[in-house]
Formats: sequence, C-alpha cells, structure tokens
Amino acid sequence: MKVVDFNKIESKERYKLMAGNIIPRPVAWIVTENNGIINIAPFSYFTGVSSKPPLLMVSIGRNKKGLDEPKDTFKNIKKTEKASVCLVPLEMVEIMDKTGEVLPAGESEAEKFGIELERIDENFPPVIKGCKRAFLTTLYGTFENEEMATVPFFLKIEKMIMDGEFEPVARVGKGYAKLCDIEK
Ligand SMILES: Cc1cc2nc3c(=O)[nH]c(=O)nc-3n(C[C@H](O)[C@H](O)[C@H](O)COP(=O)(O)O)c2cc1C
Repeated sequence: MKVVDFNKIESKERYKLMAGNIIPRPVAWIVTENNGIINIAPFSYFTGVSSKPPLLMVSIGRNKKGLDEPKDTFKNIKKTEKASVCLVPLEMVEIMDKTGEVLPAGESEAEKFGIELERIDENFPPVIKGCKRAFLTTLYGTFENEEMATVPFFLKIEKMIMDGEFEPVARVGKGYAKLCDIEK
C-alpha cells in the first residue's frame, strides 16, 4: 500500500491523482456573456450539491493557463451573476474539448469553432445547439480565500432545458469515457 501525503506534493501531481481517481466527472460546458461577447468553456470540477435550493457547483481557476489574467468564465459570472450550464452529449465531445483552449479575452469560442447558439430565455446567456440538457443559472455565491487557485462557484438552477434522449460523456483523467449500465 502506498500513502501519498498531499501536503508534500506539487499541485500538478495532486491534480493528476484527483482527476484520475475521482471519476467519472460530468462536464459543465458553460456559456457566459460580457458586453455582448459570448464565452464558452468546459469545466469538470463540477457536480450537483443540493436540491433545496437547487444548486450545482463548478470550480473555476482564477487565471488563464500560464497567464496573469482571469479566466473569462470567472470574470463574466462575477460580473453578470448568470451562466448557462450545458451538459455534453457524446457527439459533441471533440468540439467541447477544443473550447478548453485559451483564447484572448474578446475572442469568442462560438465564432472560432463555429458553434451554434440558441437563446431560450432572454434573461440568460444562450445555450449550445445540440446539447440536450442545460441549466439556466444565477450566481448563489462563491467560497474563496487567498490560498485557493481554483474557486468553487455555487450556481442556482432557475430553469432546466430538456430536448430528447441524452447520452452523456464523462471526464476521466485527461480523457473521456461513455457511461454504461450495470445489471442489478
Ligand atoms: C474537459 C475539460 C475540463 C476542464 N475543467 C476545468 C475545471 O474544472 N476548472 C477550470 O478552471 N478549468 C477547467 N478546464 C480548463 C478551461 O476550460 C480552460 O481554462 C478555458 O480556457 C477557460 O476558458 P475561459 O477563459 O474562456 O473561461 C477544463 C478543460 C477541459 C477541456
């Protein structure tokens, strides 16, 4: 048996152990807006945490990879207090993965990757066309302190969109997997 002391390893190593073993994780494909610019990015530190009130949690890194600049999703949710959280169907996994790329602020992933959006409710950011499940959410609160490089955002589900059968994709380590049933 091996015991790993998380206080004695680098955060990159901690990430590897957590992302490779706390599995499978769903992917929140989040759409936010800032002055008319639509931002799309995937997040897999993501789960449902409460039904009363209906809350989900997504943990968002403060800064873009290698840059001293906030992630657009982080900045936009703090500013507008709104986010549309789309769940990723199997057939959209490749395009979702591309939207994890760092783009300069002001450049829209929707335009760059040809993603079609659909405005379901004028009070929320649009949802990604083809995603069969989405939550329209408002910011409920964050949990943060100076030590945290990644900040949990608690989002309150105001509305849920459902459209047909949904085969979800799961994040496992740095890759993806399908889910299958176990006979009971
Ligand atoms: C499948 C997947 C899961 C990701 N999960 C997270 C996550 O949970 N938290 C995070 O901060 N970044 C995560 N990322 C990285 C962000 O998507 C990436 O930093 C993105 O550039 C942020 O975009 P933004 O600046 O437009 O918000 C993930 C990337 C991928 C492809």
